[in-house]
Amino acid sequence: MNASGDIVRIFDTTMRDGEQAARINLNTGEKVQIARALERLNVDIIEAGFPASSKGDFEAVARVASEVRGPVIAGLARTKESDITAAAEALRGAARSRIHTFIATSAIHMEYKLRMTPDEVLRETAQAVKLARSITPDVEFSAEDASRSDMDFLAEVFTAAIENGAATLNIPDTVGYAMPYEFEEFCRAIIGRVNRPGVIWSVHCHNDLGLGVANSLAAVRAGARQVECTINGLGERAGNAAMEEIVMSLRTRKDHFGVDTKIDASKFFSTSKLVSGLTGVPVQPNKAVVGINAFAHEAGIHQHGMLCNKATYEIMTPESVGAPGTDLHLGKHSGRHAFSERVEQLGYQLTPEQSSAAFEYFKELCDKKKDVTDGDIEAFLLDRILSLTPEKRYELKDYAVTIGSGGKPTASITLAHDGAETTEAAVGNGPVDASYKAILKLLPFSPELAEFRIRATSELAEAVGEAHVILRYKEIKAQGRGASTDIIEATIRAYIEAVNRLYSAAAAREVAI
Ligand code: KIV
Ligand code: ZN
Repeated sequence: MNASGDIVRIFDTTMRDGEQAARINLNTGEKVQIARALERLNVDIIEAGFPASSKGDFEAVARVASEVRGPVIAGLARTKESDITAAAEALRGAARSRIHTFIATSAIHMEYKLRMTPDEVLRETAQAVKLARSITPDVEFSAEDASRSDMDFLAEVFTAAIENGAATLNIPDTVGYAMPYEFEEFCRAIIGRVNRPGVIWSVHCHNDLGLGVANSLAAVRAGARQVECTINGLGERAGNAAMEEIVMSLRTRKDHFGVDTKIDASKFFSTSKLVSGLTGVPVQPNKAVVGINAFAHEAGIHQHGMLCNKATYEIMTPESVGAPGTDLHLGKHSGRHAFSERVEQLGYQLTPEQSSAAFEYFKELCDKKKDVTDGDIEAFLLDRILSLTPEKRYELKDYAVTIGSGGKPTASITLAHDGAETTEAAVGNGPVDASYKAILKLLPFSPELAEFRIRATSELAEAVGEAHVILRYKEIKAQGRGASTDIIEATIRAYIEAVNRLYSAAAAREVAI
């Protein structure tokens, strides 16, 4: 047990490891929104992307580096010289930057993935860290698959990294294989064996067996003072350790860990919703800390206890993580100030132009429905204000859908493209199917519908409908969101947004459509 009162640095990798998760495709504007929310949360380091991996990633890291000044901005790089120079170039505008370079150290990764000998890995580590250090004073080195690596070899690699200038050494449990007690011992042993006071030990735990958070906490007990994690536990496969769970565990059980973080936990709920909205990955209702049921007490006996003393069933308060007590409804009498304040409380940071446009949409919505809920505001912010497709190739101009118990559903869609408007009609199994078939007739290519979801933004009968669509073309996936008081319009808008984003994603990856 540690009672030193140390600070554990929070290294967020939502936009790198989180975005790597197969279904997610964030664009630069969305990454900047998330980075600003992470800055408000007060994270220490934001890993904004992997600049050498694509033009889009490079651009996003460069934008975040130049616009988000509080946290250190990190870029990931393999040990290849071209990766390190790409990261350095993308990070050029940062107030404080970090190059995070990595290579695998486990026998299985070295033999089958890298096809390198341990000596080659050792040499490459030293060279890469030295090069990175010649560019920036803040260099982190990760030994990928560290938890399945030979301890003596790992110690040698970490020592070489430190001797060449790495200040942070990361021990990833890349495949989520470790058990907490075993990982604690492993981390303690490697830290002791390398024995370099002054360096910062970090961990990066994946969640394949649901132990990402437990392993991260175990590593803190062993001396790790940086934890790599993501909002909502997003990440490769089963995800990474969830930041909100780690931070609230350290805080709620400070008696046990004796350490804390600098995080403003009251921003967790809004940040979680923002990330969920932008990535399109829903948060499960019973998710720890940020699920909508995380503070709901259903059983009568629990409710009775809560009425007597909240501490009977609450180990942390909803306010401490920014969970909303009640969903405040706005309406046509709500002014610009009340609206802007609510938008900010929901975790969005809009430019003055975006804020004015959002207020106009809000007023339009108030003409259509009496109560505007938080869910409504979030849905139309995501669709109308933050749909940051760099180029809107196709725009919805008009639609008409007929359905009934008699004939087949029919849709007619008019799109604007290249300065001209064209209309096509189609029949389908339902109104959405008919609409999508009509749109496909207007496109020069045929993307595949990989995912489709619709939901109401609140429990009110007059709720806004929100649609989420993922389209796939070749190896590229893109998401689109649409919101409207008319659910069919929402689904059409979502599809067109995904088409536009497919074009942007293809351009960023240099894939022809
Ligand atoms: O899981 C992993 O090992 C990683 C490294 C690049 C840190 O993501
Ligand atoms: Zn990872």
